[in-house]
Amino acid sequence: EKGGFDHFMLKEIADQPQAIADTLLGRLTDHGIALDEVRISDQDLRDVTKVFIVACGTAYHSGMVAKYAIEHWTRIPCEVELASEFRYRDPILDSSTLVIAISQSGETMDTLMALRHAKQQKARVLAICNTNGSTIPRESDAVLYTHGGPEIAVASTKAFLTQLVACYLLGLYLAQVRGIMYADEVGAVVRQLQQTPDLLRDLLDQMDPVRKLSRDLSSARQVLFIGRHVGYPVALEGALKLKELAYMHAEGFAAGELKHGPIALIDDDTPVICVVPSPVGNAMMRDKVVSNIQEVRARGARTIVIAEEGDEGVRAYADDLIFVPRVPTLLAPLMTTVPLQILACEIATARGYDVDQPRNLAKSVTVE
Ligand code: F6R
Repeated sequence: EKGGFDHFMLKEIADQPQAIADTLLGRLTDHGIALDEVRISDQDLRDVTKVFIVACGTAYHSGMVAKYAIEHWTRIPCEVELASEFRYRDPILDSSTLVIAISQSGETMDTLMALRHAKQQKARVLAICNTNGSTIPRESDAVLYTHGGPEIAVASTKAFLTQLVACYLLGLYLAQVRGIMYADEVGAVVRQLQQTPDLLRDLLDQMDPVRKLSRDLSSARQVLFIGRHVGYPVALEGALKLKELAYMHAEGFAAGELKHGPIALIDDDTPVICVVPSPVGNAMMRDKVVSNIQEVRARGARTIVIAEEGDEGVRAYADDLIFVPRVPTLLAPLMTTVPLQILACEIATARGYDVDQPRNLAKSVTVE
């Protein structure tokens, strides 16, 4: 069942191009995005004045990316919140609020309780979920299924990428229903989404240097991750994978926050994984991250740089350089996450741990 792979996690990483293709299937048409299963009327979607996204763990990281995409394409204010915190602060909700609950399993109790609270307050609730007929979609007004197929490994990989795809589709759909603001850009994103399975296949074929690097990093005392904009949730996700699989101290930071404290953590040879934005998509943002890389390097860090193909300028600041294919800025997490998944899986294996069944963790967390 592992399809020739040593672990389910490796198989599920390799399955990602197909999982994305399946999640896109039938939803990108010549007339735009078609989400027939989303049973909230176009009028109700036009009336939405505020979006909240609630989720836990990896699903929360996909929500962080979704916030950037939804706000940019629709101009609707969007907040993302840990499901376990949501109802305790008495959020402001009404019938013009759309609450999006993201969950692979559809059974996560924290997310379910956040959703129930939102419904009680008359908000409309839409689930993004990978498990047909599970509790969270059953209790929601509408559901957008990710078609990732069953995820067996405890650490989420293909579910994350398909959650991102579902969030992009939903963001584009909201923009479409409400009158597209950036028609050219949205068209380009749709075309690019169709190409992501092929780009990912190419990327997955080029991961040998990451495997080699993993052996080097397996004895590090800590590993830090930095990113900006959508690279920030990717940094958090890379750190989460490393914590849960390799039991190493790993932290993700917004690159700009480093100088406000965390830079004190860096000493000689601390590995810092740096997620660099596209110089084509946003040159200013890319240059800011490159300055942040220089700052950590000046303090002795070993910099492992994830950058876009063609960005030769970063080479001078990278002890190790991993290129990913060029895609529009908002879609970059579909590419930049992959080397971080492989890194965590390989480091954990090098340290002798079972990547499919990490200690203390369960695949679905049904207690609050
Ligand atoms: C991390 C991981 C967890 C889940 C979280 C939410 O690899 O798997 O952080 O993402 O427990 O689970 P779902 O998506 O099932 O609600």
